[in-house]
Amino acid sequence: MDENDRIVEEAEEAASEAEDSRALYEARMKFLGKAGKVTALMKRMKEIAAEMRPAFGKQVNALRERLEAMFAEHEEKMKRQELERKLAAEQVDVTMPGRRKREGALHPVTRVKNELIDIFSGMGFEVFEGPEIENDYYNFTALNTPADHPARDMQDTFYLTDEFLLRTQTSAGQIRLMEKKKPPIKMLSPGRVFRSDDDATHSPMFHQMEGLVVDRGITLCDLQGMLDKFAKEMFSETSKTRLRPSYFPFTEPSVEVDVSCHNCGGKGCPLCKGTGWIEVLGAGMVNRRVLENCGVDPDEYTGFAFGMGIERIAMLKYGINNIKLLTENDVRFLEQFKG
Ligand code: DAH
Repeated sequence: MDENDRIVEEAEEAASEAEDSRALYEARMKFLGKAGKVTALMKRMKEIAAEMRPAFGKQVNALRERLEAMFAEHEEKMKRQELERKLAAEQVDVTMPGRRKREGALHPVTRVKNELIDIFSGMGFEVFEGPEIENDYYNFTALNTPADHPARDMQDTFYLTDEFLLRTQTSAGQIRLMEKKKPPIKMLSPGRVFRSDDDATHSPMFHQMEGLVVDRGITLCDLQGMLDKFAKEMFSETSKTRLRPSYFPFTEPSVEVDVSCHNCGGKGCPLCKGTGWIEVLGAGMVNRRVLENCGVDPDEYTGFAFGMGIERIAMLKYGINNIKLLTENDVRFLEQFKG
């Protein structure tokens, strides 16, 4: 009996010392396993006098039951502790503020470009994109601007070789399209253009939107009607347009198109420099020579073309005073164009 108590005490000590379930299992095996102390006691049965055996067996069984119950209790406790430790380690504070993802916004140039495409595709225009690296023929010669033409000085060109250059105008797309497609044509051509130019309102890379309409009986009135609609949708319902004579080698006659100032409604303000009008684009009737260069008969077909700077429209529309803001990628600036 004394020895039983001693064994229980010893086992209890081993169980309490165990730091994890693995150690507890090993302690249990020391007593209840095949080579354990209780099993060893059982084996001593043979050495015991026959009349003492039932009593001895009963005591060993009682000991085994006590140990099993004791270890079971420790195991239970150990499991609970391990779970608590795990939960504590994985604790999440649900009241902590989340990390907010910054929502992006479309760049103002992209917004205006999309808006232009919306407006003109509503009038039946199709988008056609030409290459940014052009050859001299498409960018100049076919547009009635041969090598010695003074109008080449209007655009300070980045030449790559004698023949290739970074296009200075999306007008090159007019030629590329007319070579492929016979009239009727209603083309809209957006894209990047490049010029050696750099100040508050000019950047060496900027975007243009070109338009071209060629069909039988197209007149300057069609151009003005379409531009009027464009101005009303882009700026304000009360916007008006005005054509002024101008010069481009690829149009004849050529015009500069002004839109009434959307800031003052035409009364005169700093934005329109007191004139009530803002120049927004160049346009004109497609020069006969350009049609001929593309194999279109100028006696059968006429057309108009226009070209505008997308940055310029964006700056006017949103009151941006420096073109550099459009390429600095400052989120504080860009975030203002959300929604
Ligand atoms: N390509 C001209 C420029 O970059 C803009 C332009 C003027 C385009 C008149 C046209 C046009 O299609 O008819 O300055």
